[in-house]
Amino acid sequence: MSQPHLRTVVVLAAGEGKRMKSDLPKVLHPMLGRTLIGHVLTAAAPVGAERTVVVVGHRAEQVREHLSEVAPQATPVLQERQLGTGHAVRIALEAVPDATGTVVVLNGDVPLLRAETVAALVEAHEGAGAAATVLAAAVPDPTGLGRIVRDGAGRLERIVEERDATPAQRELREINAGIYAFDLVRLREALGKLSTDNDQGEEYLTDVFELFASAGEPVAVHVAADHTETLGCNDRVELAGLRRLLRDRVNEAWMRTGVTVLDPATTWIDVTATVERDAVIDQNTQLQGATVVGAGALVGPDTTLIDTTVGEGASVVRSHAVGAEVGPQATVGPYAYLRPESRLGRKAKVGTFVETKKATIGEGSKVPHLSYVGDATIGEHSNIGAATVFVNYDGVSKHHTTIGSHARTGADNMFVAPVEVGDGAYTAAGSVIIADVPPGAMAVARGQQRNVDGWVLRKRAGTAAAEAARRAREGASDSGATASEGD
Ligand code: UD1
Ligand code: CA
Repeated sequence: MSQPHLRTVVVLAAGEGKRMKSDLPKVLHPMLGRTLIGHVLTAAAPVGAERTVVVVGHRAEQVREHLSEVAPQATPVLQERQLGTGHAVRIALEAVPDATGTVVVLNGDVPLLRAETVAALVEAHEGAGAAATVLAAAVPDPTGLGRIVRDGAGRLERIVEERDATPAQRELREINAGIYAFDLVRLREALGKLSTDNDQGEEYLTDVFELFASAGEPVAVHVAADHTETLGCNDRVELAGLRRLLRDRVNEAWMRTGVTVLDPATTWIDVTATVERDAVIDQNTQLQGATVVGAGALVGPDTTLIDTTVGEGASVVRSHAVGAEVGPQATVGPYAYLRPESRLGRKAKVGTFVETKKATIGEGSKVPHLSYVGDATIGEHSNIGAATVFVNYDGVSKHHTTIGSHARTGADNMFVAPVEVGDGAYTAAGSVIIADVPPGAMAVARGQQRNVDGWVLRKRAGTAAAEAARRAREGASDSGATASEGD
């Protein structure tokens, strides 16, 4: 039984998807980390196909370009006019003239299909030695879909499109998911015999089943246990519905591995993201792309992480991060923006209203408040004062700032790059640092303060400020008496 099978995968993706009303081809619409066709190709992976052929047509260039990124091994085949699913498969098989064995055909717009289901379909098909096997499901609402017509003994007779169906056939709830396994050689032969004698004047792939059945070739139905896997996507309302189903499926899977998802209805985890045990994902949170959340980390609420790594026990609260690395036990937010190449070491802190970009913030170092850190390296255990700006851009080029370890920089500093502050150095509040500060020095780079005594009393006489100043002065002159009264 376990002799190797030659296998081919064909994905149908030439249609326009008119009801999406989109400039983007339907199969390129994104859904939790992959495009629709990306999900389908992933589900087809366990087939282990020698060749994968994707039938493209509508906006073929865009689809080709996407395929070159996500499935470079796939061969795109152009179907210039969409003359039906049978026509599409016929063209696809012309690209693999020597292929034999099993061919798995998938609609490009059925993104919830599970890899295990495809594997089970192929196994059932090959195990039974069938000429054709269709994936079917009993659905609550079969509107618009092809129906599985069985004979008195429950054997597949034919698949009929809704528009070609009799009223009695329309009552059938068992539908064709648009996913099939065929014996390739027999399919190639049958495709040559398809007619266009139907309501749409198209070559229907589904008619192959009737051809086989009436010729006594074995055909089979493989029923999907979870009918949601077979749902297609025709408009954006359906797309939103599929996205919700996938969200729930993904959240449930993570919860079963030991992740706490506080509000699954508002937590959107891409299929490409990873969350480790005992992490807590709070509400309104999106984990996108190659994001990894480490064990015991807290992310959210109201947080979006894109291609970001969060270390064990770290926390990221009400923040947005793209291409960032947050070290173990580091803390981010509330309200931080980590841009690409932000790297926070263990126990580092990026606090409230802080933006970072191309910045390495070493172990235990803190940027707690209201700051911009761009093109910078900060050593370990340093503290950056509130409202600091790393002035990295001279209007033409970007320059780098280096702050050493155990430094203490004052509030409201400007570090005008390129500049370097040494280990253990201090800078005074309000300084504009334009020259390097040696290790251990205190840099003061601001105007000397000058108090013009009595200016308000003279220049703003009669104002509330002058009155307040006068009272303060009188109070000060007899403060000794007041204090001795024990107030
Ligand atoms: C098809 C099936 C129907 C099934 C449904 C499941 C046929 C005749 N009908 O119907 O029984 O219930 O899928 O979703 O097959 N495509 C091409 N070239 C073409 C025509 C279609 O590449 O010439 C592609 C489309 O882009 C799409 C897929 O094939 O990805 C299915 O085509 P679609 O027009 O949506 O078929 P349905 O009418 O939905
Ligand atoms: Ca369809």
